[in-house]
Amino acid sequence: MERAAPVVIKDLGLTYHTIYGETTAVKGLSLLLKKGDILGIVGPSGSGKTTLLSVIAGILEPTEGEVSVCGMPPAQAKDKCGYMLQRDELFPWLNIRDNVLLSAKVKGLGNRRGYADELLDKYGLLAYAERYPRELSGGMRQRVALIRTLVPSPEILLLDEPFGALDFQTRVYVVDDVRKIIKNEGKSALFVTHDISEAISMCDTLAVLSARPARVKKFFDLSSLARLSPMQRRDDDSFGALYDEVWKALEFKKENSV
Ligand SMILES: Nc1ncnc2c1ncn2[C@@H]1O[C@H](COP(=O)(O)OP(=O)(O)OP(=O)(O)O)[C@@H](O)[C@H]1O
Ligand SMILES: [Mg+2]
Repeated sequence: MERAAPVVIKDLGLTYHTIYGETTAVKGLSLLLKKGDILGIVGPSGSGKTTLLSVIAGILEPTEGEVSVCGMPPAQAKDKCGYMLQRDELFPWLNIRDNVLLSAKVKGLGNRRGYADELLDKYGLLAYAERYPRELSGGMRQRVALIRTLVPSPEILLLDEPFGALDFQTRVYVVDDVRKIIKNEGKSALFVTHDISEAISMCDTLAVLSARPARVKKFFDLSSLARLSPMQRRDDDSFGALYDEVWKALEFKKENSV
């Protein structure tokens, strides 16, 4: 087991116990996130993707299997992970700078204003530092949300369908920006999406999950596309064939779904 890798998961199982009964969300799932990589996760709705990220973030305890985050059990590695959700969840009453500083404040990391302003400047948002979320476009707000996730200096970004609320055109541009930012900042990321094109254009590797309980059904190495930006990948000759392969891997029998 590569202990020092950002995320190593071996035979993970997670069962929810509720008053209505048991739901096994994940079973026999193994995967590896290498340093500096963006690993895409696609899978049917309700298959266990958010559950998987919550285990890595140390929010949920696995029922079985081994999970290592930067060589540690997830509960001890909470500071290594930054979680970004589908909705940007910026507070409307705080200006952009205060929104960006909030996660660091909540984690008790002291004043990170210098670093926050540096990131805002680097990614074209410093001029908006004193403006409010409602004055920004959806794509800009998503960039602000990513910068907020970066301010506490996590090593791993957990991105759970972060662009779900954006229109198609904006998503294409934001994916370009976000891949650039993750690579520039030297982070590793797990990126959950329903959108196959988005996964192929954004990621270095891609895991297709089965219907619940989730396990890795097929793994794709996208390193042949590494030299291309997300936008360029969409125009590459190999894109269509890859899309079909992922689509086929994703097909699942209805009776196995939720
Ligand atoms: N807190 C919970 N208690 C009980 N069952 C849960 C809980 N959270 C999720 N589940 C169940 O676990 C399964 C996996 O849920 P999860 O949210 O991980 O799926 P997902 O792949 O993220 O779905 P989506 O693509 O719709 O976001 C589902 O059947 C869901 O109903
Ligand atoms: Mg989910």
